[in-house]
Amino acid sequence: MHHPIIEDLLWRYTTKKYDNTRKVPQEDMDVFLEALRLSASSINSQQWKFVVLASDEAKARMQQSFGDSPSLNKQHVMDGSHVILFGNHPRYSREDYAEVVDQGIADKRTQAENRDAAFGACVYIDKNTDSHGSTSGWTRAQTYIALGNALHILARLKIDATPMEGIDAAAVTREFSEELDGYACSLALVIGYHHPEEDFNAKLPKSRKPFEKVFTII
Ligand SMILES: Cc1cc2nc3c(=O)[nH]c(=O)nc-3n(C[C@H](O)[C@H](O)[C@H](O)COP(=O)(O)O)c2cc1C
Repeated sequence: MHHPIIEDLLWRYTTKKYDNTRKVPQEDMDVFLEALRLSASSINSQQWKFVVLASDEAKARMQQSFGDSPSLNKQHVMDGSHVILFGNHPRYSREDYAEVVDQGIADKRTQAENRDAAFGACVYIDKNTDSHGSTSGWTRAQTYIALGNALHILARLKIDATPMEGIDAAAVTREFSEELDGYACSLALVIGYHHPEEDFNAKLPKSRKPFEKVFTII
């Protein structure tokens, strides 16, 4: 099938070795981060915080969070151009949603006189809060929507990427507690450019289950 969307998705793959001499240009970073900001989320809650590790100092802090782990993910942190931490809100509340409602008024999407009615969407907060007051299951799910969006944006920009659940979530959340500002991080994304010779994954064909196995059309 020939279509620019399919070409993007066939072009992208998970990079396993980065060229540590190459940086993503600022103009591409600007497009990428703006596109990430525009990601969809349940009730437009945007219950995420993205921490962008651009400096070697910040990336070294991330690398240290792996401890002695021999994980390939650890190597990508320094060799890649940037690392994005996807923070999710562990206890999202009506007070947090007020920021969304007021932004909607500022953006002229919601009329000021309808402010109270806009809080009706909070039923989804109640529905997604467990018996311990945690909203992590719900808010983590929103970060994966942003991740999916990020992977396609990056393909369009011809920037390589490695999504990483293989991190020490507790250590990362602790190390970047100030920047995450109460959010938790269990998902990160390295971006940059693959090593021209040493990335074994670059040469492998894409592999997915066949159409009939994943779709039921009725
Ligand atoms: C949520 C998520 C977490 C992932 N975590 C890791 C990871 O920690 N390390 C890694 O090398 N790849 C990781 N991957 C990459 C997947 O293994 C990869 O996307 C999958 O095998 C499909 O291959 P492709 O991305 O090359 O098309 C992750 C992918 C996703 C979507």
